[in-house]
Amino acid sequence: MHNNIDTLFENLWQNYINVTPSANKVHQLLGEGDTLINDHVAFRTFNIEKVNLEKLSAHFLALGYEEKGQYDFEQKKLKAKHFEHTDPTQPKVFISELLVESFSQDVQNIIHKMVDQVEASAVTREDFLYSGAPWTVTTQEYETLLEASEYAAWMAAWGYRANHFTVSVNHMKHFQELTAVNQALKDAGFTLNVSGGEIKGGEDVCLAQSSTMADKVEVQFANASKVIPSCFYEFAQRYALPNGELYTGFVAASADKIFESTNTVAA
Ligand code: NI
Repeated sequence: MHNNIDTLFENLWQNYINVTPSANKVHQLLGEGDTLINDHVAFRTFNIEKVNLEKLSAHFLALGYEEKGQYDFEQKKLKAKHFEHTDPTQPKVFISELLVESFSQDVQNIIHKMVDQVEASAVTREDFLYSGAPWTVTTQEYETLLEASEYAAWMAAWGYRANHFTVSVNHMKHFQELTAVNQALKDAGFTLNVSGGEIKGGEDVCLAQSSTMADKVEVQFANASKVIPSCFYEFAQRYALPNGELYTGFVAASADKIFESTNTVAA
């Protein structure tokens, strides 16, 4: 495991922009004259014990992160938790896990076959969170997963890496509002996820979020290569609670739509 938070996030970022070149371009566009602070970084996994949410979160607990919230996504068959560091300029961490047992036997078999290929000791390795897919699948297996769950298919192809980084609009100097960030992105030709509206949430739930649609990248599967969605970039604006402190949690209804940023076709 890492003993330095900044090194971990730097490695995660490099791994992320390798497969998400648009995020690097957005970073340069928005970062001009502004230091970009990350609101959160998100990870995905399966709820199979060897690789479950707890195994991923152990990397962050060891760096001083604490569990702060739990979320259920019944329709997508996911659970998630978020973690925060005592240093508020460090990104929050959002980790979700797919409830494998709620899928068909076919889908479960493919996922178990994947996870069987993971060495139990691999999950504690320093680079595990940006090690990619520790398994191989065929394009047929990918398609079977895709029919049942976009999330499962994404995991099969991409494995362990940041699913998205998220710019904190609150920390930007040249933009005060998420709407202005979105306009700058559209003016520059980037495609936003419009599922559930361009902005998910808002001041009423103390969190407004938007995201780009994932880049499309060629992936080598066991039998052939295929161009599929990789990762996306998110933007978050937080609002104060009645006590004057910024809300630090997540809004399940909004996150539900953000998940769809890795869909092949926008909903
Ligand atoms: Ni997010």
